[in-house]
Amino acid sequence: MSKVTVIGAGNVGATCANVLAFNEVADEVVMLDVKEGVSEGKAMDMMQTAQLLGFDSTLVGCTNDYAKTANSDVIVITSGIPRKPGMTREELIGVNAGIVKSVAESALKYSPNAIVVVISNPMDTMTYLALKSLGLPKNRIIGMGGALDSSRFKYYLSQALGCNANEVEGMVIGGHGDTTMIPLARLATYKGIPVTQLLSKEKLEEVVKATMVGGATLTGLLGTSAWYAPGAAGALVVESIIHNQKKMIPCSVALEGEYGESDICIGVPVILGKNGIEKVVSLELNAEEKELFAKSAAAVRGTNAVLKEINVL
Ligand code: LAC
Repeated sequence: MSKVTVIGAGNVGATCANVLAFNEVADEVVMLDVKEGVSEGKAMDMMQTAQLLGFDSTLVGCTNDYAKTANSDVIVITSGIPRKPGMTREELIGVNAGIVKSVAESALKYSPNAIVVVISNPMDTMTYLALKSLGLPKNRIIGMGGALDSSRFKYYLSQALGCNANEVEGMVIGGHGDTTMIPLARLATYKGIPVTQLLSKEKLEEVVKATMVGGATLTGLLGTSAWYAPGAAGALVVESIIHNQKKMIPCSVALEGEYGESDICIGVPVILGKNGIEKVVSLELNAEEKELFAKSAAAVRGTNAVLKEINVL
């Protein structure tokens, strides 16, 4: 039996659980939240869609009862506050660091062999916190940011090309921040055709910029941060792990020399399978991309340093 626990049944956590159940990624999907009744209610509501949508996965909600999460294969952490319009993801660190650390520790007690997927923001720093505080091997700690940013990149590319988004390939590496992410326009393709041959330099620059502030654009429209794509991106990461799909997905992972960086979690393409991170894929970056990556890593490191200042690490 496969089991996934989603900690935090807010917009992102509930969407992730919903996609996991609808796609029958796991036999059982548990949602845990601190708010009395919320995860139970959302689980019941979703279970009442099972015969409408035709899925057989079971959804369970619980208020802070970690025993119900026992023996999960994957634990997805979405806890914490989302950003409001005008806020950066980095500004959430003071509130979210303590929450993420404590929920991850509680969940791991009941599922010591689980793979941990981090969604909470600031995502790269929360992934680094999980790596440093949980004592798990690095293959079992994965931040989902690059999966989301890449889906936004493909959306904006498809809009610019006027084509089906499923026929576009592209990856975003680096930090999951408005100024730190790196949409790799040079490597993006439409049906195998480099997009650099199909879009002008100016148009591509627009696509890259729109991708980088993709989360902020939605926060401005919604008054809080987005949830459909973030939840679905989390589910995509979980699916590749649970079904051992070995998909290549950019995720925030611990680097030990790859891309010239170490002691950091940052977005790079990885192969995801039953062991979590099966492999870090080394891309041949050009000089400009290497410089952007180094700058992005420096910014993520700056945010990581706050963990020590606020005594969470
Ligand atoms: C976003 C948040 C979830 O990018 O980080 O929408």
